[in-house]
Amino acid sequence: MPVVRLVILFSGEGSNLENIIKQLHKKEIEGKIYEVVVAICNKKEAKGIKRAKKYGIDTIILEHKNFKNREDFDKKLVGLIKSYKADITILAGFMRILTPIFTDNIRAINLHPSLLPLFKGANAIEESFFSETKVGGVSVHFVSSELDGGKIILQKCFQKEEDDTLESFTKKIKELEFELLPKAIVKITKDKQWKRQK
Ligand code: GRF
Repeated sequence: MPVVRLVILFSGEGSNLENIIKQLHKKEIEGKIYEVVVAICNKKEAKGIKRAKKYGIDTIILEHKNFKNREDFDKKLVGLIKSYKADITILAGFMRILTPIFTDNIRAINLHPSLLPLFKGANAIEESFFSETKVGGVSVHFVSSELDGGKIILQKCFQKEEDDTLESFTKKIKELEFELLPKAIVKITKDKQWKRQK
């Protein structure tokens, strides 16, 4: 049976990382086995590190602050991802701007907590909550050289309620993220050419 080799990049809590592990790792779905082959984190204090290790996932800490520039960091990251023979790399809360050294060489997808192209960037949840828009949403898209700008794979939104607080709104975003990211991974591997590399 074909195995889909997943690499996950993260920077913080790692709740989406854990959700992918729970929903997909070593699971057979529609004729394929999904395997998280490594989790890579750019911050040594990230809570997600413990989460990944709990499931016995190879976990690498690659601190960007130890590199003299973005390009050098990305070169190392690309080398690592290739050494694990990744089919798809998933940015699950990876808070780092990537250079073309990464985006030209790695087939990756990103999770973003808004209905793109609205509210790109690092403060999407707050900006979308405090905006005039009547909905909140989540997007999963291919990573391109444009920040939060690649082709959309899946999106879903929900109605903002009068009594929503930033906390309740964030909770709804998280629930949608847990639903959408694993679905998006399965969706792109339905493509006949899912194994193609960049
Ligand atoms: C998520 O809201 C994701 O959309 C954003 O960063 C957050 C990561 O959360 N890019 P976690 O680390 O998976 O808990």
